[in-house]
Amino acid sequence: MKAIRIHEFGGPEVLKYEEIPEPEPEGPGIIRIKVIAAGVNPIDWKIRKGMLGEMSLPMTMGLDVAGVVDVGQGGVLFQPGEEVFAKVSIGQGGYAEYTVANSTQVAKKPKSIGFIESAAIPTAGLAAWQSLFDIAGLKKGQSVLIHGAAGGVGSFAVQFAKWKGAYVFGTASEKNEQFLKSIGIDEFIDYKKQRFEDVVGKVDVVLDTIGGDTFERSWKVLQPNGFLVSTVASIPEGAPEKYGVRAQTLMTRSDGEELAQIADVIDEQQLKPVVTTVLPLSEAQKAHEMSESRHTRGKIVLRVAEDPQ
Ligand SMILES: NC(=O)c1ccc[n+]([C@@H]2O[C@H](COP(=O)([O-])OP(=O)(O)OC[C@H]3O[C@@H](n4cnc5c(N)ncnc54)[C@H](OP(=O)(O)O)[C@@H]3O)[C@@H](O)[C@H]2O)c1
Repeated sequence: MKAIRIHEFGGPEVLKYEEIPEPEPEGPGIIRIKVIAAGVNPIDWKIRKGMLGEMSLPMTMGLDVAGVVDVGQGGVLFQPGEEVFAKVSIGQGGYAEYTVANSTQVAKKPKSIGFIESAAIPTAGLAAWQSLFDIAGLKKGQSVLIHGAAGGVGSFAVQFAKWKGAYVFGTASEKNEQFLKSIGIDEFIDYKKQRFEDVVGKVDVVLDTIGGDTFERSWKVLQPNGFLVSTVASIPEGAPEKYGVRAQTLMTRSDGEELAQIADVIDEQQLKPVVTTVLPLSEAQKAHEMSESRHTRGKIVLRVAEDPQ
């Protein structure tokens, strides 16, 4: 099969489009998926650069897939031919014609969208869901500030928070104002021209996907006992107590049951993953270069195979 692998850590040029054997689904609960589309996330290029530490090489890249179950083992929840999406474990390889997953990492694909949009969901959708609901417990009528609202995580977070009935502020640059309004944001903040502190007053939840100065300035816009969740920054010791709030760094879990909940919300509410770029698997280098710019809108997805329908 064709796959994108790395044999060393480094720049986009270490991504190699290669012919390798198909993975075998070994062990209880493991299934093989014929991949139709693979989502691209910043964690992919962080792994490629070695930012997550040493890992066994060569490694097939990618975590997020949508496709069709190809081989199921005894006792798994999915049968061959079922259309699914999943966040697979690091090293299993989403940028490939076939991947293997534990069936607990897999859910049936949303019915209302295709494989390309479904492949955009796992990492960013789970990150947004887990940050807003599992960690911060965002409720109807509360307010939330989403930093990086136009990005992969942010574009899911805006839609999920609106679905929940929250009032949503979001930061992005000017070019994303109309886009963010089109997906339901209540108040747009151009981070290049405005200080969010001057706009939001006090909010119940901040979701920070940016870090640095943005993260540090976020403590002061929280209500007492509010929640700061960051996908990137670690929480300095003593800071939550100092500001009288709660805080946590997200570590996204791969969770098929939660993906199934997300799929239901997408189908029922007609939410749409925002996919702005689709490239063939062979152009993974270009996809990484784009993602590393830190200014893409929504998601980049690699097309691995033609849609079976
Ligand atoms: N901890 C976890 O489990 C976890 C899970 C998922 C993601 N993450 C991390 O979370 C981060 C975000 O992920 P992502 O997939 O959303 O990234 P992404 O799609 O690459 O984010 C790009 C977006 O960031 C916006 N942006 C850049 N600088 C900004 C600033 N100063 N203020 C506001 N917006 C800004 C850009 O908007 P403009 O073009 O308008 O500037 C762009 O739309 C990444 O570092 C990723 O690795 C962590």
